Amino acid sequence: MEAASVLVVGSGGREHALCLALHESTRVSALHCVPGNAGTALLATNHDVTVTESELMPLMHSLGIDLVVVGPEAPLCAGLADACAAADIPCFGPVAALAHLEGSKLHAKETMQAAGVPTADYVRLDASSDVDAALDAYAGQPWVVKRDVLAGGKGVVVTSDREEAKAFIHASVATDGFVLLEAFLPGEEASMLVVMDGTAFRTLPASQDHKRAYDGDQGLNTGGMGAYCPAPVVSPAVHARIVDRIVEPMHRHLASQPVPYRGVLFIGLMIDADGDPYVVEFNVRFGDPECQVTLPLLKTDVFSLLYGAATDELHDVELNVSEETAVTVVLASEGYPASPIKGRPLTGLDACLARSAYGAAWVNFAGVGRGEDGEYLATGGRVLSTTAQAVDLQSARTNAYEMMDQITLEGGHFRTDIGHRALP
Ligand code: AMP
Ligand code: GLY
Repeated sequence: MEAASVLVVGSGGREHALCLALHESTRVSALHCVPGNAGTALLATNHDVTVTESELMPLMHSLGIDLVVVGPEAPLCAGLADACAAADIPCFGPVAALAHLEGSKLHAKETMQAAGVPTADYVRLDASSDVDAALDAYAGQPWVVKRDVLAGGKGVVVTSDREEAKAFIHASVATDGFVLLEAFLPGEEASMLVVMDGTAFRTLPASQDHKRAYDGDQGLNTGGMGAYCPAPVVSPAVHARIVDRIVEPMHRHLASQPVPYRGVLFIGLMIDADGDPYVVEFNVRFGDPECQVTLPLLKTDVFSLLYGAATDELHDVELNVSEETAVTVVLASEGYPASPIKGRPLTGLDACLARSAYGAAWVNFAGVGRGEDGEYLATGGRVLSTTAQAVDLQSARTNAYEMMDQITLEGGHFRTDIGHRALP
């Protein structure tokens, strides 16, 4: 496929990163985005339609789309890949039955057990369960309670406060019917993105997100305040264990389904003190902001990688990865994540954009819109990130923070310690 028309679904920093990478490809002749944001508008044609099968399918037909790349999980769980398969349009992103790996944590646990993949022990609690006995059984470490719903990062409580754990269990059972209590895994987290189809898998370099709002991992959990790639906690030896114990068994399972998994499997990992990996969660999409630091390091044409996976030709795609390091620092609105203040002007962006598109540093837009006079406005909790790629982490950080310092948003905040675990 040459001169391809590609549609990217989504509106965040991840989708801007996907558009940047696809825009670089000589095989892409037209780039479209639904709904996109002010950043994707600089590279693609944004279409103001809803992310629903009924509006997307006619648009894809009228645009002659050759590849759909689905950013977020919700449309996949709702069956967008199934609709594309029925219409013979290659889709990067799994069908609903497989997207259920992210849609249901219980299903993910059962799949891992069946495949022999290491993860935390757990118990399913419902209205008939003895909650106190279960809390006793998992005492001595913080309690980890997970709702079995797509909760946008708000479905998990990790706490040493027994009453808080108990209250969250009861509230979740009341709304959802049941909840999972799982063993706490000590260690360091890492994210591994694995592109796969029915024929092969390709592991992308591991990265590390920073989930808490403030420096030193303080504050509330967020969607992610910054990331860097590669993450040295995933040494070659740890990488080999991840592939052997997690990626290969999961790929064997997912490739043997009636419709194989065609997309990226995001493996949230905990690496313990012995370098043994455990799965914390699966997502059926690129991570945000992990995507922003992983794609730039790929020397392989990103369209070829995604199209290959969407068409079961991944075995023919060779993955080449840069030796450099990428860093992204997220700028969030005042009040994020609890109650972000939206609508404030962003200044300094034009100078950054003039230097953007894979230079020493560039900007990934997330919650950015345009006002009546074309001015940039912060329209979301996570507003944008500045990303840089350089020979080492320190230089990449310097470049990313230097660009961040040129952008002004009243009340905006960002972490100043992205990548701290990998610095001497
Ligand atoms: P999840 O939505 O499952 O990724 O959980 C959100 C966050 O909670 C993870 O990124 C971890 O920081 C933490 N977490 C989840 N499960 C565990 C666990 N079993 N042990 C320790 N921390 C966990
Ligand atoms: N950065 C974590 C996620 O995308 O879920």
